[in-house]
Amino acid sequence: MPHRPPMGWNSWNFFGPGVSDRVLRETADALVATGLRDLGYRYLVVDDHWHGGRNDDGALFAHPERFPAGIAPLADYCHERGLLFGIYSCAGNRTCGREPGSFGFEERDAASFASWGVDFLKYDFCFVPPDRDEAFRRYRAMGDALRRCGREILFSAAEWGACQGYVWARDTGARMWRTTLDLVDYWDEPRIHTNRGNSILTILDLQDGLERYQSPEGFNDPDMLVVGLQGKGHLGLALSRRPLKPGCTDREYRSHMSLWCLLAAPLMLGCDVRDLSPATLETLSNRELLAIDQDPLCLPCRRIRQGPIFSVYRKPLADGSVAVGILNRSPWRAVFEAQPGTLLHPEEPGSAGPAGPAGPVRIRDVWAHADLALPADPSVPVRWTVESHETRVMILGEVRA
Ligand code: GLA
Repeated sequence: MPHRPPMGWNSWNFFGPGVSDRVLRETADALVATGLRDLGYRYLVVDDHWHGGRNDDGALFAHPERFPAGIAPLADYCHERGLLFGIYSCAGNRTCGREPGSFGFEERDAASFASWGVDFLKYDFCFVPPDRDEAFRRYRAMGDALRRCGREILFSAAEWGACQGYVWARDTGARMWRTTLDLVDYWDEPRIHTNRGNSILTILDLQDGLERYQSPEGFNDPDMLVVGLQGKGHLGLALSRRPLKPGCTDREYRSHMSLWCLLAAPLMLGCDVRDLSPATLETLSNRELLAIDQDPLCLPCRRIRQGPIFSVYRKPLADGSVAVGILNRSPWRAVFEAQPGTLLHPEEPGSAGPAGPAGPVRIRDVWAHADLALPADPSVPVRWTVESHETRVMILGEVRA
């Protein structure tokens, strides 16, 4: 079971209800051909609307036209290509898209999933009374069923934090849990926060304070990536009905990717990987950034500074260095200034002494893939230009003699 944030691709953001055996096989091929699989994006997850119904015995079956051979051959197709296969169900008696849910059928459905070769289950929260004990019981019932089903299936609780699942989901057997409502393909302005979708910055800010619920055994999930959607696909359609113009700039997508990696979040792609722009592929393939996400400590970043322009995030890494993200929220280019030592060792609230190491600091720019030249004196501040909506990511470490 994971000791790193799970990585993969999920059908919802782009395909919505339009999933089929054909598009999922094409996606599996694209994950391989683009090199994304080899970077760690290994789970291919079919979200809602794969369903045909339940047969007279109560067993789930896949949609007969869109999945004419059922689910098992699709899972095999993924396994043959070095991918893992994930599926979707719900703790209610209906899914969010009103397909059959698993409430009351947990053992039955877990057995079906295991027999089809499923490796991952995303378990949603629609049609469940908003009661914490009841929510816990329902997730526990599926967690127990998965534990007994004879196959290792990663349990992903998509409870959206509605009943504070981040506090208790681990005890149901879940290894990742949604902390917040759905993320949409939208940067921030005007700020939206509704039960239908939230901007990147809204979701980011709602993660503050949830760091303590994460450990290498279980991950806060701020929702799937919208990188590269560019206003297209199911999420784009959903937003444009509001009416709001969906889509972000490539720089905003790089920021989103940076921030999710600093959070040590699961990285589930949502764009159409059969049709990636070079910029999107580059954003998703930044190995230095992915290594921050996958760092063995699995610690999420904390916000260490908040000003009118910059938010600064800091994530300790296993080798003793730290990753620092500097997000410019303003509509203008701005210059960030800090002593490197204060980013490496920020002053604890209430502590008297000066922060920072006595010796020199090394700094790696994760997007420029370059070591930065530094003033010889570590008390001299560095100045970095940060474009509007950009997040610059640096790794800082002490230079050891
Ligand atoms: C909810 C979930 C989404 C998606 C849809 C499917 O909204 O939060 O991620 O799974 O349901 O209907």
